[in-house]
Amino acid sequence: MKERVIEYLAVRKLKQDMKGPILCFVGPPGVGKTSMGQSIARATGRKFVRLSLGGVRDEAEIRGHRRTYVGALPGRILQGMRKAGSNNPVFMLDEVDKIGADFMRGDPSAALLEVLDPEQNKAFEDHYLALPFDLSKVMFITTANLMDPILPALRDRMEIIPLPGYAEPEKVEIAGRFLIPRQLRENGLSEGSVELPPETISRIINDYTREAGVRNLEREIANVLRKIARRLAEDGSEAHPVKIAPDDLDEYLGPRRFRGEITEGEDEVGVATGLAVTPAGGEVLFVEATLIPGGRGQLTLTGRMGDVMQESARAALTYATTRCKKFGASPEFREKNDIHIHVPAGATPKDGPSSGVAMTSALLSAITGRPLRKQVAMTGEITLRGRVLPVGGIKEKVLAAHRARCSEVVLPKENDRDLEEIPEFVRKELKITFIDHLDELLPIVLAEEPKEKPRKKSAKAPAAK
Ligand SMILES: Nc1ncnc2c1ncn2[C@@H]1O[C@H](COP(=O)(O)OP(=O)(O)O)[C@@H](O)[C@H]1O
Ligand SMILES: [Mg+2]
Repeated sequence: MKERVIEYLAVRKLKQDMKGPILCFVGPPGVGKTSMGQSIARATGRKFVRLSLGGVRDEAEIRGHRRTYVGALPGRILQGMRKAGSNNPVFMLDEVDKIGADFMRGDPSAALLEVLDPEQNKAFEDHYLALPFDLSKVMFITTANLMDPILPALRDRMEIIPLPGYAEPEKVEIAGRFLIPRQLRENGLSEGSVELPPETISRIINDYTREAGVRNLEREIANVLRKIARRLAEDGSEAHPVKIAPDDLDEYLGPRRFRGEITEGEDEVGVATGLAVTPAGGEVLFVEATLIPGGRGQLTLTGRMGDVMQESARAALTYATTRCKKFGASPEFREKNDIHIHVPAGATPKDGPSSGVAMTSALLSAITGRPLRKQVAMTGEITLRGRVLPVGGIKEKVLAAHRARCSEVVLPKENDRDLEEIPEFVRKELKITFIDHLDELLPIVLAEEPKEKPRKKSAKAPAAK
């Protein structure tokens, strides 16, 4: 990321103008998007202002009200400029992916386009000011949690720089170099008065936070240091180094909040470990499939799946039906059973095609009655013929699998080009397998078949002839 920012600044410096694409940092909270904007401002000697576009649905919020309105105000862009007190600040527009449009009140994104367009922003019209205002010296930087919801017209103008989040050793390093020294200062503790060794930081990361960035990590470090500050203030004792071992954390932060190993536990029939990208970063998500005896082949989908995801589920069912013979089951299961696919964490809406592979695994497992290996996480879009197509967010997903202590990830073959983004130490601890076709999938994801017991008692799995 730094390389690309420095290249960008170099070009701006040589060209002496701000024309060209707008930088857009895309990533989950707490990965350093805002801090990077502040650093750019500091490095280029500009002021820094920030404006959140989340929930802006009214054109007047960008462009101001005419002064004939009671309570008229200038738009937020000009308010920001006034706050900066200079005409060439670094102006950060947060949450460009969340800008709303409400056709009754004008389109704020159209106004925003005008703000960001170097051809037009020389003479930006704010209704309140009623005079053209020159924004062409401003360095606009935008941020977003996700790329997909950014309006295409805006995305066209932007140079997207993804910040997918940190792996554990990177977080430990950031904590040691930046977060702990800063929190020591903030809490009135002198450097060296508290020792938080890397093992302790790792324990905080794994047991008390689950995030792609480092925001909660910093908060928990602050919690620990505050308690120490209180103790020192109460007994008025000299600040001698207080060493905090991993096992002391219970006392400071209470019982662990997360179990790192959500993928530990029994391998189950019909439960596949999938991977998704959410605004908070990569996440492990389980896909469940069950056959309901006494049905007629009806498919039920629950867990707030979006349209695209529902279509993936149908494609997965078609594939599973036509191919289950190869895996020792008969397609006749549909004459006697209904099929239910559920994605837990049911309150969160989910969409996208990338769960196709996980849904196929869950279905084939339910149909054949053979358990799936829980520690194998998978992602990929599927076709009816069983081809596995590439998907986005590979780094986020692989990091999430690593955080959740998976032993293996299965990715689409065409995503092998994304492999270089994955840090070396993650690749050492996590086996990464690429597949082209769903036929290669089952041998990887199915658990060892129990040797003797023939599973004919299972109504779910009519044995093949
Ligand atoms: N690579 C990093 N090095 C040092 N500090 C970091 C890094 N990434 C994030 N931080 C710290 O994490 C906190 C949250 O960062 P912030 O810039 O607000 O994230 P975002 O805007 O992406 O949500 C800040 O205190 C920041 O200093
Ligand atoms: Mg931010």
